[in-house]
Amino acid sequence: MRIILLGPPGAGKGTQARVLAERLGLAHISTGDLLRQNVTSGTDLGKEAKGHMDEGALVPDELVNKMLGRRFDAPDIKNGFILDGYPRNLNQAKELDQILKEKSSGIDLVIYLNTSEAVIVQRLTGRRVCKSCGANFHIKNMPPKAEGICDNCSSALYQRNDDNVETIKTRLQVYDNVSAPLISYYTQAGKLKRLNADGGAGPVLEKMVRLIKLS
Ligand code: AP5
Repeated sequence: MRIILLGPPGAGKGTQARVLAERLGLAHISTGDLLRQNVTSGTDLGKEAKGHMDEGALVPDELVNKMLGRRFDAPDIKNGFILDGYPRNLNQAKELDQILKEKSSGIDLVIYLNTSEAVIVQRLTGRRVCKSCGANFHIKNMPPKAEGICDNCSSALYQRNDDNVETIKTRLQVYDNVSAPLISYYTQAGKLKRLNADGGAGPVLEKMVRLIKLS
């Protein structure tokens, strides 16, 4: 199955995509994670992307599209995938359609995680991420067992550069201006299902599983 998770920053795309991908045996493809790996490794792509990411702006399409195209060559996508953070605008959605068409496939389902702004800000300002395995925690909503330490691999947790109130505002504006039109794009294509993602992670996950079973 090929699924896109759509929604504003902090909607829970990464949190849910990890669990769902494991449960359903699908690859989890997060363009945000791939870009952050490039930044950490100091690649040319990472150097170019860093400034845009720190400002809360989108990384230029040609860089992200090329990175995604390479990711789609990996063998783990043959059973399907969950895309988290891509596409981010109509140009990327059309690029994705083209990449999949060349592989004689297409998107089966787009799940839109509808979330209110107050919830988003609370989630993003309290998020902590594992430096090593990328697992997500939240200082209040999903605290690690030991403060500042990843439950999975015992590495240190850090706060993302873009998880401050000012940058979160910019990311939300970018989302409203550039990414929200994707809701109409996938509604018109008959692929989009919406759900309210303001609740706890467990109930939201179960709602998503029900939607996937029905599709
Ligand atoms: P990216 O990493 O994709 O960030 P984002 O879209 O802003 O999304 P987030 O990761 O902030 O939110 P999320 O929905 O995954 O929430 P999460 O599950 O972590 O992109 C970062 C940057 O990279 C972009 O700004 C851009 O510069 C660049 N980029 C990436 N893709 C690009 C593309 N395609 N084109 C161009 N540029 C691109 O949850 C957040 C917190 O809430 C966590 O702490 C979690 O524990 C907690 N939480 C989650 N769900 C719940 C719940 N149900 N209840 C309580 N707490 C919850």
